[in-house]
Amino acid sequence: MAETPSARSESDLPIAPVYDQADLEGFDPESKLGAPGQYPFTRGVYPTMYTGKPWTMRQYAGFGTARESNERYHQLVSAGTGGLSVAFDLPTQMGYDSDEAIAHGEVGKVGVAIDSIDDMRTLFHDLPLDKVSTSMTINAPASTLLLMYQLVAAEQGIAGNQLTGTIQNDVLKEYIARGTYIYPPKESLRLISDIFAYCHREIPRWNTISISGYHMAEAGATPAQEIAFTLANAKEYVRTAIAAGLDVDDFAPRLSFFFVARTTLLEEVAKFRAARRIWARIMKEEFGAKNPKSMMLRFHTQTAGVQLTAQQPEVNLVRVALQGLGAVLGGTQSLHTNSYDEAIALPTQKAARLALRTQQVIAFETDVTKTVDPFAGSYVVESMTDDLEGAALELIQAVEDKGGAVAAIEQGFQKSEIERSAYRVALEIDNKERTVVGVNKYTLDEEEPYEPLRVDPQIEVDQCERLATLRKERDNDAVERALDDLRTAARGSDNVLFPMREALKLRATGGEVSHALRDVWGLYVPRETF
Ligand code: 3HC
Repeated sequence: MAETPSARSESDLPIAPVYDQADLEGFDPESKLGAPGQYPFTRGVYPTMYTGKPWTMRQYAGFGTARESNERYHQLVSAGTGGLSVAFDLPTQMGYDSDEAIAHGEVGKVGVAIDSIDDMRTLFHDLPLDKVSTSMTINAPASTLLLMYQLVAAEQGIAGNQLTGTIQNDVLKEYIARGTYIYPPKESLRLISDIFAYCHREIPRWNTISISGYHMAEAGATPAQEIAFTLANAKEYVRTAIAAGLDVDDFAPRLSFFFVARTTLLEEVAKFRAARRIWARIMKEEFGAKNPKSMMLRFHTQTAGVQLTAQQPEVNLVRVALQGLGAVLGGTQSLHTNSYDEAIALPTQKAARLALRTQQVIAFETDVTKTVDPFAGSYVVESMTDDLEGAALELIQAVEDKGGAVAAIEQGFQKSEIERSAYRVALEIDNKERTVVGVNKYTLDEEEPYEPLRVDPQIEVDQCERLATLRKERDNDAVERALDDLRTAARGSDNVLFPMREALKLRATGGEVSHALRDVWGLYVPRETF
């Protein structure tokens, strides 16, 4: 390094005040970078990147009932969004129906309530499912929601091979950071392998998982930890699927990833580039993938929610613009820019539109989309990419040394590493060593009033009434038989998605399907760590 380091990055790596040629001594562009769209994909997964096609502007949205969310999706489509992204409420994410006692007070709050195929039909009313790609943030019950989507599309005359989209389906990070797990790890991994196999056969263009570092980052993971723990989880999924008899090149091209974009733009760009290079090498060298698509790390990005402030919320617009810019300079495939009021409540319609406009300004008014991987060869960004690669590889090895991602989760490893980092940042903010504009510096004596969007509690009452009607109207004996078939498959080794699809078609609810699997697989109980 040319100069004495004077600063530390978010990953606690040194940042020199000046970088120069000496920092890139021995740097071999061919092996480190390759051409855009070529192994090891450091410069991006497509040869033309945004000069050929902009990233997908995909705003995460959904609240209340299926009808209200459907209206929001139509507004987003007419405002120019390129893909849909469904937020589900907590009961749906945990595999409970809206009329169960445990769901009380949560229906429609952080996302839309989907209990059955009837709700799913309403959610996508008049949206062209053969043209729009849909992401669904759903994990433990991912198979249920995916099958409901496929059944609704079939009713519109759209075949499985025409559908494109993504289910999050990443349960390992739920144990580490997000919390919406249901079944124990072994059974969860088996269900995920069943989904890979089912999609390969029935919905071949579907991205079967979105292996996510975002939530770990929001919980406090550094950029190095974020990519390391995400890729370590990804390795566990790949190993499980191979052990279940799947060919790596049959499922790996449909694995996708999800990361955060922070305001520390240079390190974030380096992080995305390092993640692509590490993954390409893992897939080729460790898992023997032959198809280049299996080696491509394609990812969605969301701007960092945790960096938004409730104080002077308009400042968040500026933060989000910088974060979104970092994601684009790092070569994201799909992007959600947060609304400036998200630190306070669900976004209002105006804030949601401004968030999308931010992406449109980056895409259509700046010049960063006119050339591929603008930072390639930059002394600082290439140095940071190398440094992050080194730090992440060490952490991946630490996970492997503990017996892989699941064993490390059971020992509380990732969680405690992340908590340590979160604690460091909290202390720095408290001590004012780290500036947060409007919070510990440049504060206002009096904040301006703000009117947040609120979810109407009547939504829960209406949703429960609809469920009561459904339970009266459908053939309950046939539903029971179908759920028994699902239990039988879960006990054995047959793919559970086929009997699950039959049950959902007969209007079994999401909660009933999850309960059937709970009967057989039980619940995950986390180990207490201190
Ligand atoms: N040249 C040629 N082709 C190109 C191209 C280029 N320059 N750019 C794109 N394309 C093609 C691609 O090949 C692809 O075609 P295919 O379907 O035939 O392969 C098509 O255009 C679409 O491009 P991408 O696949 O790059 O983009 P998508 O948007 O379809 O997919 C993804 C992106 C990352 C792979 C996908 O998994 C995705 O959309 N993920 C979104 C995940 C998401 O939104 N999550 C929300 C999480 S919110 C959350 O967790 C909540 C909370 O708790 C915070």
